[in-house]
Amino acid sequence: MNQALFKVQNLFKSFVVASANVPVLKDINLEINSGDFLVIFGPSGCGKSTLLHTILGLEAPNKGSVLFSGKNLYTSNNEDDRSDFRKEHIGMVYQQPNWIKSLTVVENVAFPLLLLGASKLESLKKAREVVDMVEMSEWSNYIPTELSSGQQQRVSLARALVSNPEVIIADEPTGNLDYESGQELMQLLSSLNKKTAKTIVMVTHDLEYIKYAKTAIKMFNGEVVGEYDESDKQALLTELKSKRGNGDLKTSEDKSGNTQHV
Ligand SMILES: Nc1ncnc2c1ncn2[C@@H]1O[C@H](COP(=O)(O)OP(=O)(O)OP(=O)(O)O)[C@@H](O)[C@H]1O
Ligand SMILES: [Mg+2]
Repeated sequence: MNQALFKVQNLFKSFVVASANVPVLKDINLEINSGDFLVIFGPSGCGKSTLLHTILGLEAPNKGSVLFSGKNLYTSNNEDDRSDFRKEHIGMVYQQPNWIKSLTVVENVAFPLLLLGASKLESLKKAREVVDMVEMSEWSNYIPTELSSGQQQRVSLARALVSNPEVIIADEPTGNLDYESGQELMQLLSSLNKKTAKTIVMVTHDLEYIKYAKTAIKMFNGEVVGEYDESDKQALLTELKSKRGNGDLKTSEDKSGNTQHV
């Protein structure tokens, strides 16, 4: 029987703010299958990043469990175990990339492998391969901050890929990008998912990206409130297209990249 790669069961998470308990995730149940491209939509503050953090082993839930390949991430009290889990299985892409400013693009991409104990030669070789995969070879010797935001996010993706993880987790990776660069990054993620069967879990509030999702779910106020089926997706895309045609939605000319939001 096929076992889900991630299984999130009856997950509750709350934070204590000024001695009040604020519930942020409320009974989340979710299965993520190997090879899926899961996109989690939801408005700002609904708990998307918090959910990703619990899936990444960074934020222990108050109740419920997160299983990866059948193993509960939070059984162990040892943070190092969860850190090893991330190093072994997960590549992360954030809205805002962090760079070691004294290193070039290819050296930044190679860095995680050096930390894992690979030789400099081997790390740089692998880094060149993934930089090529995201079509950034031409910029290998630049310092990442010299690149455009879209180019930097491609390099972020290369860095996430360099250790060949099964899963890429991306939190608003297009959040700082203009329309065109956002679409390009999404196409890259989608082709990666199709060609290499890497599992991708991404959160966004931009419904435009539903077309790239294999599975699309919606969060609201700390809960998963539904899944978009194929006909929902098509209806939504038609609606977005007609709004775009009417000029109701911002286009690539608008550098805010602020398209239709949930
Ligand atoms: N460490 C924390 N301490 C207290 N409250 C927190 C903490 N982390 C998140 N929250 C609260 O949890 C709620 C959900 O935050 P979260 O960052 O998960 O939202 P989000 O859906 O990712 O929003 P956005 O789209 O703006 O990134 C917010 O009300 C936030 O203030
Ligand atoms: Mg967030």
